[in-house]
Amino acid sequence: MKETTSPTDRHLLAQIDPARVPAHIAVIMDGNGRWAEQQGEHRISGHLNGVRPIRDTLTAATEAGVKYLTLYAFSTENWNRPKAEVDALMELLVNTLANEVDELDRNGVRLHTIGDTDSLPGTCRTALTKAMERTKGNSRITLTLALSYSARWDILRMVRSIATDIREGRLQTFAVNEALIDQRLSTHGLPDPDLLIRTSGEQRISNFLLWEIAYAELWFTPVLWPDFQKQHLFQAILDFQHRERRFGLTREQVTTP
Ligand code: IPE
Ligand code: IPE
Ligand code: MG
Repeated sequence: MKETTSPTDRHLLAQIDPARVPAHIAVIMDGNGRWAEQQGEHRISGHLNGVRPIRDTLTAATEAGVKYLTLYAFSTENWNRPKAEVDALMELLVNTLANEVDELDRNGVRLHTIGDTDSLPGTCRTALTKAMERTKGNSRITLTLALSYSARWDILRMVRSIATDIREGRLQTFAVNEALIDQRLSTHGLPDPDLLIRTSGEQRISNFLLWEIAYAELWFTPVLWPDFQKQHLFQAILDFQHRERRFGLTREQVTTP
């Protein structure tokens, strides 16, 4: 792993309180198309330049002690983009996995996915299965790629699965609770995100993790994804550490030990 060497990064990292690092950070990586447009290039060039920040964000998260990093890489709605762009994104996924899997494994990264991965091209499914198999024993950080994912797709699946179990007599209505809903979502096994980051200046959720972000802290930055750097992740974590999470309680309740 490329260690943090820039003085700015080191300075920011040193300010992070290791005892209060968000366990799970979710990121809506947005702005690749606008970045490319600014460079006078095709949108696809923006996606190609969106790989370096993924690598750096993963390194920065690992250095800060984050245990779960979840990246919104391709939404259910993104299937409606021009075919050439969708094809390029799928090809980029396959190539990136092939190039990065050794490094991921060496760095103790466990790769995971959420979303309707059955709908991905066979080459992507094969590459993902291989990479997940290869890294399944790692435990330093879990990197979850949301692929063909949308929160409503996931919630619909969960509701159908519960409804079927009730109809078949395997489940009683009173047994449906938050824990069961957690179990039936594709995010089961992941803690709820503590911090949600979105780049590119848009301040919306775009169908990401609607159930899971109930109490996440939100952090928006105008930086376009291809320009995102380690220092931005460290800044987001520092900002998170200055917030007071109250979970519906009073300030007094959360500050009195
Ligand atoms: C995010 O960048 C990448 C994906 C959604 C796959 P965009 O491609 O949405 O970039 P903008 O929002 O058009 O600038
Ligand atoms: C959200 O970005 C999806 C991903 C980052 C993969 P979009 O660019 O698709 O979202 P909207 O269309 O601006 O809401
Ligand atoms: Mg976008």
